[in-house]
Parts: sequence; C-alpha cells; structure tokens
Amino acid sequence: MHVAVSMPRSRKRYLVQNGGNADIEVARSRGNYVYDARGRKYIDFIMGWCVGNFGWARPALRRRVHAFNGPDYVYPEYTYKPWRELAQLLIGLAPEGLSRCCRATGGSEAVELALQAAMLHTGRRKFVAIEDAYHGNTLGALSVGDGDDAVRVVSVARLKPPLDADALDRLETRLKHRDVAAVIMEPIAMNLGVLIPETEFMDGLVPLCHRYGTLLVLDEVATGFGRTGKLFATEYYDVQPDMMTIAKAATGGAAGIGALLVREDLAETLEQDGNVYSTFGWHPLSVDVAIANVRWIKRNQSRLLRQVDRTSSYFVERLRAMAFAEEPELRWRGLAIAVDVRDEKYAKRVAKKCRARGLLLDPQESVLLLLPALNVDRATAKDGLDILEAST
Ligand SMILES: Cc1ncc(COP(=O)(O)O)c(C=O)c1O
Repeated sequence: MHVAVSMPRSRKRYLVQNGGNADIEVARSRGNYVYDARGRKYIDFIMGWCVGNFGWARPALRRRVHAFNGPDYVYPEYTYKPWRELAQLLIGLAPEGLSRCCRATGGSEAVELALQAAMLHTGRRKFVAIEDAYHGNTLGALSVGDGDDAVRVVSVARLKPPLDADALDRLETRLKHRDVAAVIMEPIAMNLGVLIPETEFMDGLVPLCHRYGTLLVLDEVATGFGRTGKLFATEYYDVQPDMMTIAKAATGGAAGIGALLVREDLAETLEQDGNVYSTFGWHPLSVDVAIANVRWIKRNQSRLLRQVDRTSSYFVERLRAMAFAEEPELRWRGLAIAVDVRDEKYAKRVAKKCRARGLLLDPQESVLLLLPALNVDRATAKDGLDILEAST
C-alpha cells in the first residue's frame, strides 16, 4: 500500500517510487528494528506493511535461504514436488472448499488470476469492489481498487461503507442485473484503515452472490497469516469464499511469493481456458522459504495467536489512555490497529515526530496505522507506544 506524495529530487534519481519515506536509507533489519545507513535504529510498527509478521531476519528463515540447494529455476510447465507440498500446506489452512492453488509472484498477480478466473467462469466482465479499496498495482487490480479512471480496464461498481445490512441491500440491487463476475474485498479492509464489515453483511454475502451467479473473492494478501488475530481474517465470519488471495507474510519477507486459492471447478476453468503461466511464480527459493515459514506458523499457531490477543489488548489499553488532539476512533482486530485521529495533517505530523524519535508507523489519511510484529515483546511494544504518546 502506498500514498502518492512528493519526495526530495536527489532521492528520485534513477528509481521511480511512491511514498514519503525515501529518506530512510535501510541498511539492515533485525527482529522489531530497522537500521538506517547512518546507524539509526527504528522500532518498526509497519513491518513492511504486513510482510514481516514475525520479525525481520528470523534465523530459521535466514538459514534456509543460505542452505538452499534446490534447482535455480523450474520451468512452469514442469512439475516440482515442493510446489505440491506448499499448495497442500496452504489448502490445509484455508477455508473449506478451496482445493487448488495458482502460483504467483505476489499479491497483484494473485488478484489478476482471480479476476481472470471469475471472468472466464461466469462469462461476465463486471466487478463489485469496496469504494477506495486497494488490491495491487496491475491494471486489473488497480481497476477494482482506487486506481485513476485513466487506467481502469474492467468495469467496477463501488460499494460504499459501512458494510452493514443496508450495504447488502445496495449490493443486491447491483447483482440483480446478473452481469457481475465477482465481488472482491478484504475480509477486514486493511487498506481502508481497518474497516471491519458487520457480521450481518458477511453472513449474507455468499448466499446473495450465489443467488445471482456472482463469485466472491476474499483478498487476504495483507490480513493473512495472523495479522488480525486469526490465521486468516475470513475466520471471523461464517463465509466460504470461492477464491482467496495470499502473499506478503507467506515468506516473512525473505523471498517473494503470491498465491490464488480456488475451488475445484474454477481450477478446471483456468486450466482449460485461462493462462496461469508465471515465469517467476513460486520460484524454488521462495517456495522453500514459504514452506518453512508456513509450517512454523502452523505448528505454533495457537501460541502465536494467543500472544497476538494479549499484545493487542495492551496496545488498545495504551492507545485509549493517550491524549490525541481530538478523541480518536480506534478500530482493530489483533495487531491490525487503526487510530483515526480525524485530521490528515495532524496524523502526518504525529508520524513525523515518531520517526524523529525512532518509531516507524504508517499515516493513511487521518489514520495512524500500527502494524507491529505479531510476536513483539512487551518491552519493545512499550518503547514504541511511549514514543507515540510523547508525539501526540
Ligand atoms: C489487500 C492487498 N491486495 C493486494 C496487494 C498487492 O500485493 P503486491 O504488492 O504483492 O502485488 C496489496 C498490497 O499492498 C494489498 O494490500
């Protein structure tokens, strides 16, 4: 996720970049910390935006990268045992009904595959997405996200939050035309400042979609692997998506990967009529790291999620006691925490002060987004929150 802002000219040489943090020249990262080239140490409450969910440079993953002795590359039309192992692992953790995996390099490609599958399977070309959402930077993903109209390549109707019973009625009005291939959304919208759909909305979503021949894609690229206090945010609801996208925290950042998990009939559609060829989708090194990481998460799941719960309560208790310029609105699930301070300029000022004092967090419009490592220790959490408190 990024916000378009200008940055100093010298930083723009050679590279094209969005965002306002290009003056942080990263030298290394360890655990909960990022170190810049001048040796400054920052507590990281962004964690690469839901990538380093269990801290940076985890020794087990580092060892795995260094010891990797598999093939440099596997041609996508061959088969490769670790591909099947990873697919089986992911399917085993995913919501019921998703039985096959498409390989992808990252979240945007996974989203593209979902859009492709939906169009091929339904023969329809329209989508419904949540207003101002973000699903990646490829043209299809931008089209269902908050991309500029100039780059929109598929037709999208936008559903305005709050996501409640009324939104379900508005959605039905749109789906009745029977021309919508899929509804795509994050089960908890990280990109909308931890927007939490009401249970009534989510419970009604699948029956409504299926009544009108529309598929449901849940995008777990940011929420996946424990961020919201469940392994997948979908688990907060009684909902079985037709497709689910994952990426970011699957490797903890040590390599790049993405995946689309689909129902059997959608897998068959893609195999018959679609194109799932991806030159670097599930590169052998990435797959090796992902298998190690996801196996570790699976083995330690209950302990890790209990810790997320405890740490989340500590964050919320501290944040409630802080004196912001105005009473903020707090929205959170697990360690996806949004502090809506109701003023964009103020949010930016607070984030800037935090940074000067050694804490990285993400200002998104009027929201300060806190995404610490899920296993952050209490002392580091306290240090970070003390900095935030001193910066309000
Ligand atoms: C919900 C969501 N979907 C998709 C993407 C795109 O993922 P990637 O940047 O790996 O292409 C992002 C990235 O921030 C995201 O937050």
